[in-house]
Amino acid sequence: MTTILHLNSSVRSTDSISRQLTGEFVQKLQAAHPGARVIERDLAKQPVPHLSEQMMGAYFTPAEQRSDEQKRIVQLSDDLVAELQSADVVIIGAPMYNFSISSTLKAWIDHVARAGVTFKYNEQGQPVGLVNGKKFYVFTSRGGVYSSGPAKALDFHETYLRGVLGFLGITDITFVHTEGVAMGEQAVNSALANSRSAMDALIAA
Ligand SMILES: Cc1cc2nc3c(=O)[nH]c(=O)nc-3n(C[C@H](O)[C@H](O)[C@H](O)COP(=O)(O)O)c2cc1C
Repeated sequence: MTTILHLNSSVRSTDSISRQLTGEFVQKLQAAHPGARVIERDLAKQPVPHLSEQMMGAYFTPAEQRSDEQKRIVQLSDDLVAELQSADVVIIGAPMYNFSISSTLKAWIDHVARAGVTFKYNEQGQPVGLVNGKKFYVFTSRGGVYSSGPAKALDFHETYLRGVLGFLGITDITFVHTEGVAMGEQAVNSALANSRSAMDALIAA
């Protein structure tokens, strides 16, 4: 059975382009894989906590020495890692905020990027990602255009996600960018049409 992990991170509960497109894509994937299990995690509506001194302390305390509070903190991270590891396909709605991802998506990454759990260093000191064999689809939405043109150098959005996910061993990542959505209704409609065509091509592939 295919397991799909669906993450959203737009602060908008209505009119969000990334929410709309990830929702449509999950529906299409479900139609293509009847019986697929979908795990929904809304990082904006139910944010995971930002990194804290307590979290760091809990992670670096050996399991048998953790206090009840430290066990609770580590449990959330363990649950998020288990969700990620259980998924065959991960779909992320990732709006661009200030040239990169939302702080809530970053907080999720801070919970799942765990030394000895989702990555390790080999004897040569090289990082080895421990999250393998997954297909990631990232639906971005951006006010401007960054995939080409003068603002390309300001894309810390795709570059960051490719970097950090790659560090965890996740290299099969497809980005669908809906760009220029602050450039008027025609630009929005055209960007949405392009993203929906890309989505159909991905389902048909
Ligand atoms: C706080 C904030 C910061 C933003 N920063 C950028 C930015 O740096 N570059 C950009 O092109 N658009 C930026 N935008 C526009 C969003 O990327 C755009 O509205 C996108 O559609 C939001 O995703 P959503 O439709 O899923 O909510 C920003 C929007 C907000 C609310």
